[in-house]
Amino acid sequence: MKKLLTIIGARPQIIKAAALNRAIRTKFPEQLTEVLVHTGQHYDHGMSDIFFEEMGIPRPDHQLGIGSGSHGQQTGKMLEDIERVIELEKPDALVVYGDTNSTLAGALAASKLHIPVIHIEAGLRSFNKRMPEEINRITTDHASTLLFSPTKAGLKSLEREGFSTLAVAKKKGKADIDNPYVFHCGDLMYDNTLFYAKKADERMDLFIKHGIDKDNFILSTIHRPQNTDDVHVLSGILSALNEISIQNKIQVVLPLHPRTANMIERANDDGIGSLAENTLFKIIEPVGFLEMILLEKHAQMVMTDSGGVQKEAFFMQKPCVILRPETEWTEIVESGCAVLAGSDPRKIKNAFNHFSEKTDMEFPSIFGDGAAAEFICKSIIEHLN
Ligand code: UD1
Ligand code: UDP
Repeated sequence: MKKLLTIIGARPQIIKAAALNRAIRTKFPEQLTEVLVHTGQHYDHGMSDIFFEEMGIPRPDHQLGIGSGSHGQQTGKMLEDIERVIELEKPDALVVYGDTNSTLAGALAASKLHIPVIHIEAGLRSFNKRMPEEINRITTDHASTLLFSPTKAGLKSLEREGFSTLAVAKKKGKADIDNPYVFHCGDLMYDNTLFYAKKADERMDLFIKHGIDKDNFILSTIHRPQNTDDVHVLSGILSALNEISIQNKIQVVLPLHPRTANMIERANDDGIGSLAENTLFKIIEPVGFLEMILLEKHAQMVMTDSGGVQKEAFFMQKPCVILRPETEWTEIVESGCAVLAGSDPRKIKNAFNHFSEKTDMEFPSIFGDGAAAEFICKSIIEHLN
């Protein structure tokens, strides 16, 4: 039996952890056991607890309760507490997801204690080191022993940074931090979307609750610092969405991330204030995962700066306007299913017009077969020493 210590903290990590935990519990209970550590990076009910409740994730074995703070403060506190938990639990490996401060803290704490790090969503790069996530993911990859890349582009990025191919690494010897094994495995979030898509239909009352016309809305999410920290940038994006809504008589549904909600509350800007006058613009609280995939399933189009949501738009075969200048998920842009618009109102409106007129969209199979979690478990069982 191998004992995994899994670090979660931010909303998308809790959701991703559901897929691996489900695979461990249902398919590999004799070979793997998982101890869950929640850093407390996200703590509102709608950003954390709701996912445990609706996705059947076991309650965390350790709740660190770190909360919000500056990067150094938040990461530093996590590092100290995770180190303590590792010493107590003595796991065979530590699992981290993605690129948040919780990911970085987990990878640093474990690698310094010579505990192998398993990085799920390895290799993704925006090539923009001003994003805190880019620093987190590069550092985590280079402290890891087993790296699971959801895409081929991720695998290529790792090879460019000096990681050996799996075949070469296997020839060199067993996997360890100096001889990491890199796998291309598909996307856990595709597993989750397939698993929960039908269950999501039970949440149709969401449309009535918020007065959403299920056949005529754009789904949007905004939370990146580069889109929210400067009120003029945020105001420009919201004004573009508002104009699109009014001119095309289409609703905009925006489940609001607390970072963005805080910014809007603090701002007293014309662009933001005038949203209230448009009854087609629906700003709602963050929703659970089931409601989110229901919204993605019915939306005409998705406009987002979220990494997870742009991919889920693709899974649901919906066009996506990416509210960022670059993306780690380059394949969805290359396939023509998504467009990079950044925060430029003109580009956002052009992208909406582009997809409104486009009828011939194809969504190639990029993210695996919906069994990434199983593949990851099997690889851990086989290669973790
Ligand atoms: C974090 C991740 C980001 C990820 C996102 C997912 C880092 C550096 N960033 O960004 O990569 O895409 O999570 O959503 O790790 N807040 C609340 N309640 C909560 C959580 C946050 O009010 O439950 C507010 C606080 O004011 C906090 C702010 O949101 O300061 C930002 O939270 P934080 O976790 O620092 O960053 P995110 O923007 O959520
Ligand atoms: N999500 C959700 N409710 C919301 C907004 C997002 O359940 O109100 C889910 C979404 O379906 C995706 C994940 O949260 O699975 C993405 O998280 P987020 O956008 O916070 O972070 P990112 O993926 O950009 O790191």
